[in-house]
Amino acid sequence: MQLPDEAIEYTFQRLLAPLPDAWTPLAELQAQHFLSPERVEQMRTLLNAVRGQVAAERELQNPPAKLQPLQAGFIDLPQKTLDAYRRKGDASELGRTLRVATRLKENTDRVVILGIGGSYLGAKALFDSLCHACHNELPAKLRMGKPRIYFDGNHLDNDAQQELLELLENTCVEPEEAGERWGIVVVSKSGGTMETAAAYRTFRTEMQKFYGPKSDWMKKLIVPVTGPKGKLRDLAKAEGIADEDVLTIPDDVGGRYSVFTPVGLLPAAVMGLDVRALLLGAAAMTKRFLEEPFDRNPVLQFAAINHLMNEEAGKKTRVMAIWNKKLESIGFWYDQLLSESLGKMNRGATPITSVYSRDLHSRGQQHQEGTRDKVINNLIVRTAKHSPVMIGMADRNEDDLNQFSRRSIPDVLEAAIKGTNQAYQEAARPSADLLLPSVSEHTVGQLMQMLMLATVVEGRLSNINPYGQPGVEAYKKNMMANLKAVPNLPKGEVADAVKGK
Ligand code: PA5
Repeated sequence: MQLPDEAIEYTFQRLLAPLPDAWTPLAELQAQHFLSPERVEQMRTLLNAVRGQVAAERELQNPPAKLQPLQAGFIDLPQKTLDAYRRKGDASELGRTLRVATRLKENTDRVVILGIGGSYLGAKALFDSLCHACHNELPAKLRMGKPRIYFDGNHLDNDAQQELLELLENTCVEPEEAGERWGIVVVSKSGGTMETAAAYRTFRTEMQKFYGPKSDWMKKLIVPVTGPKGKLRDLAKAEGIADEDVLTIPDDVGGRYSVFTPVGLLPAAVMGLDVRALLLGAAAMTKRFLEEPFDRNPVLQFAAINHLMNEEAGKKTRVMAIWNKKLESIGFWYDQLLSESLGKMNRGATPITSVYSRDLHSRGQQHQEGTRDKVINNLIVRTAKHSPVMIGMADRNEDDLNQFSRRSIPDVLEAAIKGTNQAYQEAARPSADLLLPSVSEHTVGQLMQMLMLATVVEGRLSNINPYGQPGVEAYKKNMMANLKAVPNLPKGEVADAVKGK
């Protein structure tokens, strides 16, 4: 298969141990902490078998108990979504998603996206990495019809929520002014997650105050994204939201694997992103995963290297060192993907997102000289989107920067990446590079699909089911029990009731 120029790559040669005959004290240290090339070679047969298994799992209608839960729907979803859109146009799920997104874009200046975990992190990653760094601060004209975006329903911070409600209350006064109208996208696959459900209630109440009880705007400007059944779907029906305006998360796609369902695609379309390019990138990655040999297959490479690092080299902490600050949320999205997928049975690597060079001034010390339990995956973008910011000449040279006047921020970045990797190499700290040619919908689509596929492959390599998150239930159960244990009274009166007054 011919790889297009914008294909992403994973290069890991730096963390392979040197040949035994090249003995030096450093080579000896590297041999202890790096992977032997033979061990990586040996993985090829197993990786092909696992790839065959993951491919076959896509077809299983009634999976055996040991494979349950199985939610492999995300693998083919990008291509299927594009095909259905080509065949059915507006009547397809993507067609409906784009239609509702257009309605939100044309009629609001602000959209609040409610959701948590897999129902939040993907959309946030797309917003931060692909929208303007100061999107919400841009005047409407420069935003070119794209509403400001806020995220909530992902926390229990009273004041953060109150402050967003206050912002809406104070800036949105006249509902007949499009520039003051706001909408809600509420995302919950189960429809029963406390944080999201409670936020939906408070933002809906605020909306009712704003639009008035008789207004039709609420039915048009609230878009639920949820599973085929559940409380959120029932609530939407009761509120008179049309069935075709409730977008569906397929049953066979798990929360953290759902960024290419309406969970990520609706927010992306509202943000004005090229949704088809995202899906094309993701579909291209699935194809590459299924068809390419190990040497050209970043999914198999990333899964194999990180699996060996975790299971055999004792590198239990996996650092995603992100060299573009706009991609930080992709790291947080991956944190959840890895933690909820493989943090089971007392196993699983611990993910850490670091933004370099910012965090070279905080975590950098530990990565260079701390506990030797880390593997570092650099996430590097080869070409910046905008023209380079130059250091330039200045009259005052006390900072001694005139010597670099013709150098740009990308030049400093390149020197920093090279220097950091060199320092890791000289201290036998394993690091590899995930290379994005540029940041675009197409490359971000590839990257997210690559990391989801690699997580599933890694799960199968380690005999850990990458789907489901049984451990998350424990806190939810206790939280509900605690909540029910106190009477439903205002705070002061609860204290009295507990004292038996
Ligand atoms: O990956 C997952 O399945 C979870 O992180 C969920 O996305 C998260 O718990 C939110 O669940 P829901 O979409 O049902 O509100």
